[in-house]
Amino acid sequence: MNILIIGSGGREHALGWKIAQSNKVEKLLFAPGNAGTAEIGENIDCGVSDFKKIKTIVLENKIDLMLIGPEVPLVEGLSDFFADDPELKSVGVVGPKKEGAKLEGSKDFAKDFMIRNNIPTAKYLTVTKDNIDDGIAFLKTMTAPYVLKADGLAAGKGVLIIDSLEETVNSLKEMLAGQFGEASNKVVIEEFLSGIEVSVFVLTDGKSYKILPEAKDYKRIGEGDIGLNTGGMGAISPVPFADAEFMKKVEKQVVQPTISGLQNENIDYKGFVFLGLINVNNNPFVIEYNVRMGDPETEAVMLRIKSDFVDLLEGAAYGTLDEKIIEFDERTAVTVMLVSGGYPESYEKGKVITGIEEAEDSIIFHAGTKNENGNIVSAGGRVIAVSSFGTSMKNALETSYKNAEVIQFDKKEYRKDLGFDL
Ligand code: AMP
Ligand code: GLY
Repeated sequence: MNILIIGSGGREHALGWKIAQSNKVEKLLFAPGNAGTAEIGENIDCGVSDFKKIKTIVLENKIDLMLIGPEVPLVEGLSDFFADDPELKSVGVVGPKKEGAKLEGSKDFAKDFMIRNNIPTAKYLTVTKDNIDDGIAFLKTMTAPYVLKADGLAAGKGVLIIDSLEETVNSLKEMLAGQFGEASNKVVIEEFLSGIEVSVFVLTDGKSYKILPEAKDYKRIGEGDIGLNTGGMGAISPVPFADAEFMKKVEKQVVQPTISGLQNENIDYKGFVFLGLINVNNNPFVIEYNVRMGDPETEAVMLRIKSDFVDLLEGAAYGTLDEKIIEFDERTAVTVMLVSGGYPESYEKGKVITGIEEAEDSIIFHAGTKNENGNIVSAGGRVIAVSSFGTSMKNALETSYKNAEVIQFDKKEYRKDLGFDL
């Protein structure tokens, strides 16, 4: 079959790498892809929100299955666009429709969904300009630190965690005055939960589900988890504290009520549910839902799936997931992200990348790269994800760190302390 992957990051390269291993694949396309995806398939220049152009690509290339990588086209309704178009509706789509994508696109919707379905999460109140006084009163009932979240998509920047009440009240006012544009017309004020985080991924056809390997993501730029939030500096799977007992609680208390909640509320959901969880005294609480795979978690998680991934994706797209099996690789998989100096603030692009061919024993996924004048050059803050297997977290990391030195580009940086907290 012919498969199209929407997106251009390390996540999409890793998904494509796994998909390309299936003997069900004839043609693999990426829109728009990057220099790495160009080596395993064909890139077609196209914005992820350009639905008309995506339609043309799908029809011209007789695409059977489309996998939507990032959240933006999901929240904008790319799946609905396919379902509503007579020429496209027979194409299998992995990625929820608009209504389901609200789990990521609106924090208020997600919190309300969790409360309705008895899913453990932090206490909260949603405020707008009209009830800001209720918000201030709610904040006064809580203790520091305070958590403020822009309701809508804010490219990972919409969550503020603040120590002083006075500063929090000021930030709340600024957010409601448009600090994050429309995304902060509503703000979710949340109780702060203390614990260690883990990302759990679920593939569903809306009725049945498969839990994928979990991963720990390292979001902060600085070693020791300090400094600014990034898109993710690395990931490790499996996560030692997410043992069988913890994962059983995740399945019973979070996964099952999420899937049955979607069903009971008639939300047609075919795709990934990414549970951002926090472990509070050995109990999982949901910090956030995302409606796609994580990046860079995917660059570790894909290594740990032994089953034919296309078979699983077909199960999700066509409602036959209950007939499928998922098998994990028992080894540890890690990924170390090489980033551009200055990221996540301003950084330079267009740096020539060398040494990818010389990297041994790792799988090199491109995050932000492109081909230019016969070279592979950087095209983003996150540039290359160096993924490796190991019999332990330590030796998997050693392999990735060895190759993090083999791959070179000007002002390359990466975190050298991944796994420090496990
Ligand atoms: P998000 O953008 O929703 O992933 O949030 C960014 C980060 O803020 C999360 O990964 C957590 O580390 C932190 N965070 C969000 N909500 C809470 C909370 N209620 N308690 C503690 N930390 C939180
Ligand atoms: N790694 C976190 C995310 O993809 O949102």
